[in-house]
Amino acid sequence: MYFDTHAHYNDEAFDADRSQVLSEIRDSGVSLVVNAGNDLETSLAAMRLAEKHDFIYAAVGWHPQDADSFDAESPELIRKWLKNPKVRAIGEIGLDYYYDNPERDVQRRVLYRQMELARELNVPVVIHDREAHADCLEIVRRFPEVCGEFHCYSGSAEMAKKLIDMGWYLGFTGVVTFKNARRVIEVVEICPVDRMLIETDCPYLAPVPVRGKRNDSRYLRHIAEKIAEIKGMAPEEIARITLNNGRRFFRV
Ligand code: NI
Repeated sequence: MYFDTHAHYNDEAFDADRSQVLSEIRDSGVSLVVNAGNDLETSLAAMRLAEKHDFIYAAVGWHPQDADSFDAESPELIRKWLKNPKVRAIGEIGLDYYYDNPERDVQRRVLYRQMELARELNVPVVIHDREAHADCLEIVRRFPEVCGEFHCYSGSAEMAKKLIDMGWYLGFTGVVTFKNARRVIEVVEICPVDRMLIETDCPYLAPVPVRGKRNDSRYLRHIAEKIAEIKGMAPEEIARITLNNGRRFFRV
């Protein structure tokens, strides 16, 4: 049984066959999914999806690329959404210096504000960190009361150790199966299995051997197989441990 801790089934890539895909992934042994929002509209969509399907949960929040649309009313919306029992985290939130839009100050302010809300509401956070490792670490460290996950972890092994020491979790996607994955493989090597989450980020980041196709939770097994190979464990064991980690982290 698998737990896909980061998916975007509200994406238009699934508009034509969403219900069918969701019933197929369930039949294939995926027992839980967290669908992450990026802004107002996608957070609402993630909640609707979670309300409709008992095995789907939601994370809500403003992604760094959508930080411009975080306004004075957004904190109140997050407070309201977190009262929904299917909403389990604030995410995905963070910093994206690859696109650098909106400007970094805006991204940092919106991340900081959502970390404050996570502390106030006592919920975990899902962090998107793209080429902003130092600043992400610097901000999350100011919130020792908050536990979080670095989704699709792309930092160094050294930074990973710091996060693990803080009690945080690391999310691994299909990127671990890519040819140029040396850096993330080093991180898998040093990361204790009880701090790992496996996730598709679908429809993006399909693992080898389906790289480039539309991704969905059925392909989690390729990620589990790769991690199992690195760790010298059985794929079923990685699936079982990451399922338990996800349950603990999202309190499902
Ligand atoms: Ni995502």
